[in-house]
Formats: sequence, structure tokens, C-alpha cells
Amino acid sequence: MRSTARLLALAALASAASILVSCDVGLPAGRTPHREGNRLDMGDQKKLKPQRKDLFLARATGLMEPQPGAVAEGEAPYPYAQNEADRAGAELVNPLEPTPAVLARGKFVYENFCIACHGAKGAGDGKVTALFPKPPSLMTQKVRDWPDGQLVHRPMRGQNSMPSYARQIDPREAWAVVLWIREMQKSEPVAPPPAAPAATTASAPPAPQAAPPAGGKS
Ligand code: HEC
Repeated sequence: MRSTARLLALAALASAASILVSCDVGLPAGRTPHREGNRLDMGDQKKLKPQRKDLFLARATGLMEPQPGAVAEGEAPYPYAQNEADRAGAELVNPLEPTPAVLARGKFVYENFCIACHGAKGAGDGKVTALFPKPPSLMTQKVRDWPDGQLVHRPMRGQNSMPSYARQIDPREAWAVVLWIREMQKSEPVAPPPAAPAATTASAPPAPQAAPPAGGKS
């Protein structure tokens, strides 16, 4: 009787201990806990992991990150700062011709990166304008009179509430979009200058610009 009781007590202790061991300290799921004193866990070694940025190899070889200022072959960095739209307009020449292939590419890029705000025909009535500031029409006489460089500057550098798309589209695609906008301007009527939106455009930027310094000071 006594020995049976001892055995039962031992078994209970053992299972309690095994529960304690299996719950173990907070290691991420899937990692095996180290045995005491043994730090040679293969799961913890430096190694390449699929889909992960590899800091080890990057530090050792510099292979993963381009060197600062590196430019891919056949690419020229866009040289104008955000406030240099006028200079871009005066100096840049569209390197593309409006061939059917270029226009098709421009249409594709427009319909993937611009249409949400600027609308199917550039009227500034894209779907997100229910929530996002409504852009002015791209069919105004002002935009028609802009040189291509002024137009390409907006996707490259953004303008006020419009973000830059330089990370999503490359300069040649931006030039193709410009040609697509020109193509739409041929068939769309001239839009009147945005009277009320111009007022909001004129007054909207100073407001956010004035707000952050005030917030920063207080
Ligand atoms: C997230 C919404 C959004 C997207 C996407 C967007 N734009 Fe804009 N765009 C705007 C807004 C808003 C303005 C007006 C900004 C301002 O207040 O000056 C603007 C202004 C412009 C202007 C200047 C118009 C003018 O009369 O001042 C051009 C040109 C332009 N966008 C081209 C593009 C092109 C090309 C694309 C696609 C590559 C694009 N935009 C994508 C929101 C957007």
C-alpha cells in the first residue's frame, strides 16, 4: 500500500515537472528551449532566412544594400527638388514619342497610380476624393500650357497633398503618363480653372504648414 502511494506521488510529481518543462520560459513558438549550459542550438545560428533582410551578410559583404548614390545601369536619377517644378518644366524634354506602345504604357500606369484621385478622364473626380483632397482637373488650360517637364515633376516629386510616386514608377513611366494625359487632353473639353478648389488649394497648404511648428513649440 505504502509503496503504491509513493509510486503514485512520484508519478504525480513527474507529470507536474514535465508540464513545467514543456511550458518553459517565453521562447517564441517553434524554438526549442536550450538545455541548461548548452548554447549550441542550431536554430539560433546566423543563417540566411527566406524573405528576410539578411543583416549578417549585408554587414559582411555589403551585397544587400546598394552603395549610397549608386545608380542602376541605364537609369538616371531625377535631378530636381520638389520646389523646382519651374526649372524641370524649362529644362526637361520628354524622351518618349507617343507611339501606341508608349501610350498603352502611360494609360496602364495612369490607371494604376493616378486614377484613384485624378479620375478616369483627369477631371479630379477619382473614387478616393470622397475622403482625400480633390485634385484640380488635369484638363485645365493651365495644365495644357505646362511643358511636359512641369507635368512629369508632379509624379516624381509630389505636390502639397499629392505624394511622390518616384518609388513606385520610374521616370520613363512618368513620361509615358504625361503623354497619356496629353492624349486625354485631345479628346476632353477644357476644364474651367478650379475657382473654389483653387481657394482651398491656396489656403489648405499654409494651414498644415502653420500647424506643425505650433504643435512643435507647445
Ligand atoms: C492620392 C491621390 C493622388 C494620386 C494617386 C495622384 N495625385 Fe496628382 N494630385 C493630387 C492632388 C490632391 C493634387 C493637388 C495638390 C495641391 O493641392 O497642389 C494633385 C496634383 C497633380 C498635378 C498638378 C495639377 C495642378 O493643376 O496643379 C499633376 C500634374 C498630377 N497631380 C499628376 C498626377 C499623376 C501623373 C499621378 C499618377 C502618377 C497622380 N497625380 C497621382 C492627388 C493625387
